[in-house]
Amino acid sequence: MMKIVVGSDHGGIHLKKEIIAYLESKEIGVEDVGAFVEESVDYPDYASPVANKIVNKEADLGILVCGTGIGMSIAANKIRGIRAAVVSDAFSARMSREHNNANILCLGERVVGRGLALSIIDAWLEATFQGSRHERRIEKIAQLEELR
Ligand code: RB5
Repeated sequence: MMKIVVGSDHGGIHLKKEIIAYLESKEIGVEDVGAFVEESVDYPDYASPVANKIVNKEADLGILVCGTGIGMSIAANKIRGIRAAVVSDAFSARMSREHNNANILCLGERVVGRGLALSIIDAWLEATFQGSRHERRIEKIAQLEELR
């Protein structure tokens, strides 16, 4: 069974709940790392456990939600081995898997509505990494991580 780890800050907590219900309706395993309350929190505190669970192979993929998705993507991409893509359309979501092998999808609750968010997730989950020349480019990204 595929397992997806999800996280949000206060700015993404409502959309995160909708996403969890949707994934569970599709019989996808979900782990929620929070936030669990609506008070103001800091998005790196949720990007970090989601990213680490993926690199430690405790989950297959991750979904992070904040107000825009931007803070989550910046934070998650600091973790070696993470390729987090913030998108607000289904085409980019599909390409982020096919070409970039994104392992985290970042969404903005203040940017996309529930319907669009779920269609983005569908496109993302249905897509498959195409390898080949894209593999070489991802290897080059991994080399950049070694320069830090
Ligand atoms: C919180 O106000 C907001 O800054 C956060 O959810 C996110 O949009 C940051 O990128």
